[in-house]
Amino acid sequence: MTDLPIKIAPSILSADFARLGDEVKAIDDAGCDWVHIDIMDGHFVPNISFGPIVIDAIRPVTKKFFDVHLMIAPTDMYLEAFAKAGADAISVHAEAGPHLDRSLQAIRNLGKKAGVALNPATPVSAIENVLDRIDLIVLMSVNPGFGGQAFIPQTLEKLRQAKALVGNRPIDIEVDGGVTEDNAEQIAAAGANVLVAGSSVYKGNVPSTYGPRIEAIRNAANKGRA
Ligand code: DX5
Ligand code: ZN
Repeated sequence: MTDLPIKIAPSILSADFARLGDEVKAIDDAGCDWVHIDIMDGHFVPNISFGPIVIDAIRPVTKKFFDVHLMIAPTDMYLEAFAKAGADAISVHAEAGPHLDRSLQAIRNLGKKAGVALNPATPVSAIENVLDRIDLIVLMSVNPGFGGQAFIPQTLEKLRQAKALVGNRPIDIEVDGGVTEDNAEQIAAAGANVLVAGSSVYKGNVPSTYGPRIEAIRNAANKGRA
């Protein structure tokens, strides 16, 4: 089986929003791979974050890959706005609407990588009929809506299932929620190659801490690969 490279994707949900541009620049300088961007609508999830206008504002700050996680329903009418704002990948939740296949086609037609996110209670089998339309699987290891929650251990079993289902396809497998340097090894060993980390990178919002934290998570994940 091909193993895609380990990528660390800090979630800017835990950034200091009063100086968001600097916080994005800081994780870029600190060696992140992707920038994870959480979009919440107060309807699909019980919290509200921000929309395309903020992505557009931070797009000039970094060349890094913008991994946009839509926790919104409906999704389709907003996909173009997120693509235009500078998303590189757009992930929609399988639970967000009745027409996942259509949403995924729309994302690829906009020239972006297409992802599907699954809530903790949603089985991996929810994506088995759209595998040829996706570039990224996002397994939620917390119930979406907030940063700083504890990792749900059942996600490890779901990761193994996702890894087996993906086989040799070049699909990134991402874990989102409660990732720390202490569980990154197990998470990578179970099959994840993209690790989202919000509070475990940004906690305290001291830029000089971001680099060592990203490295600690990366080293633990690489150990899980060995
Ligand atoms: C949860 C978001 C996550 C979150 C991760 O709804 O999708 O991306 O910001 O934050 P931590 O790493 O603090 O669990
Ligand atoms: Zn997320």
